[in-house]
Amino acid sequence: MADTTLRELARRKGMYIGAAKRHLGQRADPEYEAALAREVNCTVGETQMKFGPLHAERGRFTFNAADELVQFAHDHGMAVRGHCLVWHHPSSLPPWFRRREWSREEALDVLRDHIQTVLHHFGGKCFAWDVVNEGLADEKGTFYREESPWLEAIGPDYIAQAFRWAHEADPETQLFYNDYEMDAVNGKSDRAYRLVRDLLDDGVPIHGIGLQGHIKLEEAPGPESVAENIARFNDLGLTVHLTEVDVWIKGEPSEEDLQRPAEVYRDLLQVAVEAKDCPAFVTWGLSDKYSWVPKFTGGEYGAALPLDENYHPKPAYHALCELLGR
Ligand code: XIL
Repeated sequence: MADTTLRELARRKGMYIGAAKRHLGQRADPEYEAALAREVNCTVGETQMKFGPLHAERGRFTFNAADELVQFAHDHGMAVRGHCLVWHHPSSLPPWFRRREWSREEALDVLRDHIQTVLHHFGGKCFAWDVVNEGLADEKGTFYREESPWLEAIGPDYIAQAFRWAHEADPETQLFYNDYEMDAVNGKSDRAYRLVRDLLDDGVPIHGIGLQGHIKLEEAPGPESVAENIARFNDLGLTVHLTEVDVWIKGEPSEEDLQRPAEVYRDLLQVAVEAKDCPAFVTWGLSDKYSWVPKFTGGEYGAALPLDENYHPKPAYHALCELLGR
């Protein structure tokens, strides 16, 4: 069976097929690790490399969980995507940072120290980094995401600064802007396009766009539009990764209900395979046993990943293999 794993088929296509790995700590699950090692050649920490987990006290860094992930990847010959240096979300920001207001100079200081320390630590171990995550507004009317403490303290140039410091600290790694609900051509991906075009015009070192690909089944974007979106970023000279793909299904799906999500997975991977420069397809987890979706949606959605809770392949898994095997 070894030659039919996703990983083997991706290798033959010269692609990264990846999955986010959750830090289970003491609850280590050998079956989970075996499934990841068997199926993917790329991984990313679901939380391990975020600001709070690495930087729980100001100026004091804890790399254990992230180092464990890097070691796991190394042991199994996987590439690592670093995720993420700058994010507004309270779940990733430590209390010491959230507790108070920061002046522009102070916040720049914190940001510089964080980026430099983290990239010096992982130097050479991550082939790509999401430098800024989710910095754009969802709705039209505003451009940047307004509830970001980084935007509030520093202003919009926190984005350019973050990329510059990241590049200085690790000139080899590819630096990404990563965001959700901008997989297809839409208002948000238009904003991303303007953002990165302006960054490039200003000489800011940015190399790629991460399209997260968190997709509610009933809102799945049309593949032609995703292809057009990837192409316009490629035309700017940027590479594109699909970074956090999962296809959310409402309620308890029957076997038949799993066919449509399989098509969505297959269509997206096909777009990546056929794009000029979209070499990575990463899912946000591998098995439904560890998926952020049920918790995040209060149980409304689930069954979002290619393997079920018992690590059995779902139609989505077979669809991905079938596409890669063509
Ligand atoms: C999520 C994790 O999966 C959760 O475990 C955590 O509690 C919150 O963050 N977009 C991102 C990811 O860029 O970092 C998020 O990950 C999911 C949405």
